[in-house]
Amino acid sequence: MRFDVVTLFPDMFGTVRDLGITGRAHAQGLWALHTWNPRDYTHDVHRTVDDRPYGGGPGMVMLAAPLEAAVAAAQAARAAQGLAPAPVALLSPAGRRYDQQGAQSLAAGEGIILICGRYEGVDQRFIDRCVTDEISLGDFVLSGGEIAALAVIDAAVRLLPGALNDGDSALQDSFNETLSGLLDSPHYTRPEVHDGQPVPAELLSGHHANIARWRREQSLRLTAARRPELLEKARANGWLTRADEHFLAALGAPDDRNPKS
Ligand SMILES: C[S@@+](CC[C@H](N)C(=O)[O-])C[C@H]1O[C@@H](n2cnc3c(N)ncnc32)[C@H](O)[C@@H]1O
Repeated sequence: MRFDVVTLFPDMFGTVRDLGITGRAHAQGLWALHTWNPRDYTHDVHRTVDDRPYGGGPGMVMLAAPLEAAVAAAQAARAAQGLAPAPVALLSPAGRRYDQQGAQSLAAGEGIILICGRYEGVDQRFIDRCVTDEISLGDFVLSGGEIAALAVIDAAVRLLPGALNDGDSALQDSFNETLSGLLDSPHYTRPEVHDGQPVPAELLSGHHANIARWRREQSLRLTAARRPELLEKARANGWLTRADEHFLAALGAPDDRNPKS
């Protein structure tokens, strides 16, 4: 899988390329990263990548031409590797919200070209001509698309076969279908008692079925308290068992389900 990132700050991508799970996967050759700086596709002495907005107003707008040239260079490099033209996704607050399903479909493909906006955004004509998708990280405004692109890459790469050790399998994570799309259950490690607080007895029982049931119930409880719409989705997909429904019916009012919610 190959990511091409068009960015004015290529150094920011060392974190995902070199560190942690994604760094290990990169070292194993499970994915590749190429960055393309729009400044390298300018023709003036100042290497200008932005200009003032038509119609006035604050801030600057990224020029279409250097972005288009950077995308063309990325597509050409991918073609030279025998890859088909890649989707071109602009990170944008106006985009479709990135979620686990988005990460899964990305991980199943050959990769993507990510465009990191800066300033007030990018010239709309670049979007109209070159961009096939717009991806948002959430309802907040970042200073640039880089942090959003890092999140997009990280969430997809950790799903690649071989990226995770068995011990930290993505199948056990929140939103995964094997967990019925629910939130993950709480985790505990040593010591058995921390400052007077013991680990839940079920986890110390050594009884695998009881431990699995306890984790399932904690997932149900947490999801009911924090993300009831995920429960509805699980129910609609037929992912909840009779035992799940029984447990949910016995839960109190939403406020009682999780004192910290
Ligand atoms: C300061 S923002 C521009 C915000 C834009 N003027 C607006 O109000 O929607 C600069 C760049 O950061 C990126 N960005 C900001 N918030 C984002 C978000 N929630 N998700 C993805 N990218 C975001 C986009 O690439 C955007 O072009």
